[in-house]
Amino acid sequence: MGRYIIKGGKRLKGEVMVNGSKNAVLPILSASLINGKESVLTNCPDITDVSFTCEILKALGCSVKREGKILTINSCGINNASVPKDMAEKMRSSILFLGVLLGKFGSVSINKPGGCAIGKRPVDIHLDALKALGANIVETDTTIECTAENLLGTDIYLPFASVGATENTMLAAVFAKGQTTIHNAAKEPEIWALQEYMKSIGVTVEGAGTPTIFISGCGKYKDAEVDIISDRIEAGTYLTAAAITKGEIFLKNVSWIYMCKTLEIMSECGCEIKVKKDSIYLKAPKKIKPLNLIRTGVYPNFATDMQPILMSLLTTSSGTSIIIEQMFENRFSHADELNKMGAKVSAQTRVAIIDGVKQLKGAEVNATDLRAGAALILAGLNAKGTTIVNNANFVKRGYDNIEKNLHGLGAEIKFCDGEN
Ligand code: UD1
Repeated sequence: MGRYIIKGGKRLKGEVMVNGSKNAVLPILSASLINGKESVLTNCPDITDVSFTCEILKALGCSVKREGKILTINSCGINNASVPKDMAEKMRSSILFLGVLLGKFGSVSINKPGGCAIGKRPVDIHLDALKALGANIVETDTTIECTAENLLGTDIYLPFASVGATENTMLAAVFAKGQTTIHNAAKEPEIWALQEYMKSIGVTVEGAGTPTIFISGCGKYKDAEVDIISDRIEAGTYLTAAAITKGEIFLKNVSWIYMCKTLEIMSECGCEIKVKKDSIYLKAPKKIKPLNLIRTGVYPNFATDMQPILMSLLTTSSGTSIIIEQMFENRFSHADELNKMGAKVSAQTRVAIIDGVKQLKGAEVNATDLRAGAALILAGLNAKGTTIVNNANFVKRGYDNIEKNLHGLGAEIKFCDGEN
């Protein structure tokens, strides 16, 4: 489990090199099964979601080697289509193996990833899209069995622009005969990153970043080498760490172009922001300004993954802010924990009202999911006294060495391993 111990109140200042994106690399790891050859992923973050996914790849017969930020997968030895039960249940994104294994083997059985702290997270849109390609699906409470003699390219209309369903459909469509057109596809940058990986191995695919993606496989693929795009949520977390400590930060190796909404919001909060080709500079104001109304939404709207992090910042603003969570039904679990630190947040199912306080105070709090954990660390950086954030394992799912980066900026933070 592990915990972070933070002595707050230090003004952060310095540089951080942003890592590769968790949500971009996970579907690319599933896609590395397509070519039956080598895929070299550079700028690959060293986070537990990636190491768990590598365990799945190994269980399927692939070889995986990490050297620093370079991950090399060879899928020539793939010999089975069953994702081990415990691995599937442990990680939601294991569902991204469904489409590609169905295409590769014509049959796949996988345990449902189940709900999680932020909501039920059903996979009906994924399954309907696979059915449209010709799959037969039998579901039990805990398993999904998918079979298809042949997948046939077709027009698929997603009822909601789900990120995971778009990725799963792309991964299956590679194996379909003819062209597949995905309508109302998700437009997130991570979809574009998957498209670029697919193109590099020889798949004909275009349209990522727009609501319509066209995709056709060719059956013969090449080795790949791709650089993983920067993590826009990790970048947003470090910007907020500087903002909540009245500090200043220079982020390197970051694609600010994917972060326009976050930067607009930070600027509304009073932060001074300058962007260059692959860097962002932020200087915090003396006091964070409140925000009238922020709604999470699909890209390019404000990312739901940034919501807990922004809430943490707004707890220290000079007035009242409102956040509406539109993406997930249960994504305010951090509010109660922030309140233990002296914040004034009143959260109902989808709406949170945040009254700013002068400074938070240290407390022992529990991370309930990945971004909630990050939000509590940021609150601890602001707080007077010592904060203990339990369940560090959630944070390690998506942040590569957050304690080291924050320490480099002047924070007093350490990670302690072991039970809470
Ligand atoms: C991905 C990201 C996650 C991010 C989310 C929204 C990864 C590994 N995870 O999750 O960090 O918070 O996008 O940007 O990339 N839904 C259904 N049925 C489905 C699929 C989704 O009802 O079949 C609902 C979900 O419950 C949720 C909403 O659609 O309320 C958005 O989900 P989706 O875009 O699919 O998110 P994920 O791909 O799970």
